Amino acid sequence: MHELALRTLETTSIVEAAQLLAEGRLVAFATETVYGLGVDATNASAVQRLFEAKGRPGDNPLIVHLSDWTEWSVAASLLTPSAEALLRAFSPGPITVVLPKHARIVDAVAAGLSTVAIRVPDSAMARELIQRAKCPIAAPSANKSGRPSCTTWRSVKEDLAGRIDAILCLDMEGIGLESTVVDCCGEVPKLLRPGGISLEDIRRIIPEAIDGRGDLGLVEEESGNAITARSPGLRHAHYQPRAKVILIEGVSEIPTDALGSAAVCVLGKPDHWAALSNSCMSRSYATVQEFARDFYEFLRESDRRGAVTIYCQLVPEGGLGTALRDRQQRAAGVS
Ligand code: TXA
Ligand code: MG
Repeated sequence: MHELALRTLETTSIVEAAQLLAEGRLVAFATETVYGLGVDATNASAVQRLFEAKGRPGDNPLIVHLSDWTEWSVAASLLTPSAEALLRAFSPGPITVVLPKHARIVDAVAAGLSTVAIRVPDSAMARELIQRAKCPIAAPSANKSGRPSCTTWRSVKEDLAGRIDAILCLDMEGIGLESTVVDCCGEVPKLLRPGGISLEDIRRIIPEAIDGRGDLGLVEEESGNAITARSPGLRHAHYQPRAKVILIEGVSEIPTDALGSAAVCVLGKPDHWAALSNSCMSRSYATVQEFARDFYEFLRESDRRGAVTIYCQLVPEGGLGTALRDRQQRAAGVS
C-alpha cells in the first residue's frame, strides 16, 4: 500500500476535532474501551480513506457511534425489541448492536452487508465530539489493521501518524478491550464478539441470548451472489504484536534460557515471581480488570523493547475474562 504522508494534527480541542469530522476528515479519539478512528459514516470518500489509512480489509465492517441510543434511526432502519432492551440496559457503554442498516450509512461502512453495528460510548468526551460533529461516526479501533488496539494516544500516533488527519490527544480511562458485539436482527440475540458486557450480563436482560461465535454464520446477502460471513471481522488476524505470543497456564512453562529476550504477563503473583520479573520485562496483574486495561499496551511495550517472545498467562473464562481470553488467543493467532 502507498504511504499517505499526511501531517497529523494533534489537538486537545473537542470543538476543533468535531469540525474536522464534519468536514470528512479522519480523527482518532478516546472511548471507554479503546481509541477509535472516527469518520463521517455518511461520507463515502472519507470512509474509503479510512480503510486505506488503517490498511483494513474492505470486507470488515465498521461500528457507527452515536451520542445517544434514542437516535438509532440515524443509522438503522429498524429497532428490534432485543436491541432496544440491550441499549436501554447498557448504553452508554461497551455494547454494540447489529441492526438492519439505514440507506444513509454508506455501504462501505457495512462492508456490503445489509446490517449496521451501532454503539454509544460511555465517555462524555466521545459523546460531545459526536454531538458536535452532527453526523453518525463510523469508528474502528485506531490501530493499523492486525495490530493490537490502542489504549494510549501515544500508541495511536505510533501506528497512524502521517496516515490520518488528527488525533484528539485526551487520555482515556476504561476497560481496555473493545465492546461486546451482539447481532440483534433475528428472533434471538447472538453474541458475535465478547467485550465489556458479558453474555451473563446480556442473559440477565434476555435469557435466550446465545453465543454465536461457534456459528459459521454464513448468510446469503441480498445484494449479490457471494456468501458473506455474518461477522466478517472475525476471519482476519487481530491484535498481533511483532513478538510471538505464547499462551501459558503457569510460569513453570517458560524455558529459563528464553527469558533474556522475553516479556511475561500473568494474573496474580506466582511463586518465585521476584526472580523471574528481574530477568525480563514482566507484569503481574491483581485482577482480570487490571490485566484487560493494560493488555494491548503491554503487547506494544514488549515490541518497543524488542521482545522476541511474549509469554502470556491465559485468564479463566467468565465475565470480562471471556473477552480478555478471546483477545489473548487472537494475539497468539490460535483462534
Ligand atoms: O469498543 C469498540 O467497539 C471500538 C471502539 C472504538 O468503539 N471499536 C471497535 O471497532 O472495536 P473494530 O472495527 O475494531 O471492530 C468492529 C467489530 C468487528 O468485529 C466487525 O466485524 C464487527 O464489529 N461488525 C461491525 N459491523 C458489523 C455488522 N454489520 N455485522 C456483524 N459484525 C459487525
Ligand atoms: Mg479493531
